[in-house]
Amino acid sequence: MIFLDYTFMTAPAITGGISTEERNGARAAFALAHATTARRRESGELGFFALPDDASAAAACVDLASRALTRGVTDVVVLGIGGSGLGPIALRTALGAPGYNSLTDEQRGGRPRLHVLDNVDPATIVALLSRLDLRTTLFIVTSKSGGTAETLAQYLAVRGRLAAHHLPAREHLIFVTDPARGALRRIAADEGIPTAEIAPAVGGRFSVLTPVGLLPAAMMGIDVNALLAGAANMRTRCDANEWTRNPAGAFTVLQWLADSRHGRSGHVFMPYADGLRDCAAWFIQLWAESLGKIRPDGVSVGPTPIAALGATDQHSQVQLFMEGPPDKTVTFVTVGDGVDLEIPRLHSDYADLAYLGGRRLGELLSVEQRATAGALAARGRLNMTLSLERLDAWHVGGLIMLLEIATALAGELYGVNAFDQPGVELGKRFTNALLGRPGFEDDLSAWHALPQPDPDCTI
Ligand code: PA5
Repeated sequence: MIFLDYTFMTAPAITGGISTEERNGARAAFALAHATTARRRESGELGFFALPDDASAAAACVDLASRALTRGVTDVVVLGIGGSGLGPIALRTALGAPGYNSLTDEQRGGRPRLHVLDNVDPATIVALLSRLDLRTTLFIVTSKSGGTAETLAQYLAVRGRLAAHHLPAREHLIFVTDPARGALRRIAADEGIPTAEIAPAVGGRFSVLTPVGLLPAAMMGIDVNALLAGAANMRTRCDANEWTRNPAGAFTVLQWLADSRHGRSGHVFMPYADGLRDCAAWFIQLWAESLGKIRPDGVSVGPTPIAALGATDQHSQVQLFMEGPPDKTVTFVTVGDGVDLEIPRLHSDYADLAYLGGRRLGELLSVEQRATAGALAARGRLNMTLSLERLDAWHVGGLIMLLEIATALAGELYGVNAFDQPGVELGKRFTNALLGRPGFEDDLSAWHALPQPDPDCTI
């Protein structure tokens, strides 16, 4: 199970916490947000809700993975960016063995290594392409729109390499994209390149439970059906129309009240598990790109998500969380059962070490999380804790669904559309204009009308 303990978000438990009146007052706003979200879900507009029911997508991914295994694929490379890259990275870190790509074939159970580009930095791409054996490498080109410049540039770089090595594209490429739209879909149709579909009503950052995440996960041997089952379970729990009984609702309402009534617009997401480090990066994109918007009345709104990792950040950002501006909430994410290690009883004559002997590392991590939560609460710093009983596919699926539903609900509470990203368009248009793409001539003029670099402002 996944539990949410929000005691330290509330007054009188902590000074400056969210009052009983505020919490009760949010019932109506939540009921409305929940009803609107349910209506949009039923209309098919919010496609991510239906993904746990799509057993055929999971089966298709398992099938593609077993065919890759039969062909002796040693390396799978995901080409993609944003929602198309962060989801697979999060799943690899959460559900693959630590250091997965460095393990031997045997330790990986004969499964391929998984690389995810998520950028167009030539230093990374050249290094990766140079060390891979292209004959046994499969590239999954992932783009919902099929038209993202970075992903298409990655694809062209790879396609050039495959051609240079006389390797047939059809055997080394799979496209994960919209069923009908976009350049990738057209190339796949022309050249018979295998594909997997991202349902039209599922946007990039909500797509981890489509083949965007399921296919790379299946390649690694992750139980994709358990991911979907965990997500389905959480979806049922989030059907409750009172926020106090709805995990996503409670997370969202408390974050929203903390931001809108208490000025806590920084939302720290802080797992105490290395395996969830990249889930934090995935959540940052989800929360930021969905909620940072201009409302219809012209007001800019949206929390600023911040990624942290326990216990590491106790020696870094926690100082700021404790004593910096009281403008943040912290969501801890903990994991229960798992691998543990007893700390040997050595140096018993040194007090600095002796108290650790006989304890377990997992116990230390857990105690440190509780101590940090309590210390923050003692200073009136709002925090809550999401606990996963264990780190497995079922729980990770549940966590993903919780945070996706929370984001949809938060869009309603903040009064913005959580499913678009108009703010990134202008930068894309300027990029196209600067690269001389036909049709972007007006944007090039707008670019040239911007203030030019001022030598007085350059040192
Ligand atoms: O959430 C989103 O829609 C974006 O972050 C996309 O994932 C990102 O821009 C990549 O888009 P696409 O999958 O269309 O290539």
